[in-house]
Amino acid sequence: MAIIAVLGRKGGIGKSTIVGNLAGEFAAMGRSVIVLDADPQHSLAAWASQGEGMLSRTVEKVKTDTAEALEAKVRKVQKSADLILIDTPPGIPEVGYQAALVADLVLLPCGPSPLELFALKEALAQALKARAERRSKKPRIRFVPSRVLMGTNLGRGLTTALEAMGKKVLPAIGQRIVVAEAVANGLTVGEYAPNSVAHEEFAALAKAVDEIVGR
Ligand SMILES: Nc1ncnc2c1ncn2[C@@H]1O[C@H](COP(=O)(O)OP(=O)(O)OP(=O)(O)O)[C@@H](O)[C@H]1O
Ligand SMILES: [Mg+2]
Repeated sequence: MAIIAVLGRKGGIGKSTIVGNLAGEFAAMGRSVIVLDADPQHSLAAWASQGEGMLSRTVEKVKTDTAEALEAKVRKVQKSADLILIDTPPGIPEVGYQAALVADLVLLPCGPSPLELFALKEALAQALKARAERRSKKPRIRFVPSRVLMGTNLGRGLTTALEAMGKKVLPAIGQRIVVAEAVANGLTVGEYAPNSVAHEEFAALAKAVDEIVGR
């Protein structure tokens, strides 16, 4: 059983998209997956409600009104899943922190703009603080280049910029129309466009994540 949390202090960087599509990839690998939607905006629940794909059976809303609510929910469901994925809001740092306190792995997505790199430092500090609090090697922390415009200088520079921040960088997710189209249909990219480059990218990301939490 592994718990993966996706954190970020900037809105719109692709946190929920990564959670939803990783859930799809892990389900396709035969894992039982529970997605905890701990963002009061409930983007993942909204995405799931657009269709009848795997997310409609996988996403659970979580109340985050108390510091203990998320941990209590994780403890309650952890025996019934191989993998718990937690989506967190950008504007409520306490929720991201609570998620980092229970996670085995924290993913920090980041797009190519310098402003996003700045916000990433805050999210990294939060994950490191949770690790210090736990006096543990957990959560492991990885960066995920997100919404990357492949073939541009900004896109090419992102992985290098992230590596310079001292954490390992996982395979990048490109900015691709099919990703948003899948959401509109209530599906993961793997369900909506199995032969797409976007699906290849999420599959590569899931494989890299599996190698970390499977150890
Ligand atoms: N790789 C991608 N390609 C195309 N569109 C994307 C991609 N990733 C995210 N998007 C789109 O960008 C928007 C923001 O993505 P998402 O909701 O995943 O970000 P977020 O970080 O969870 O945002 P918030 O901080 O508001 O929760 C959505 O409309 C989503 O469909
Ligand atoms: Mg979100």
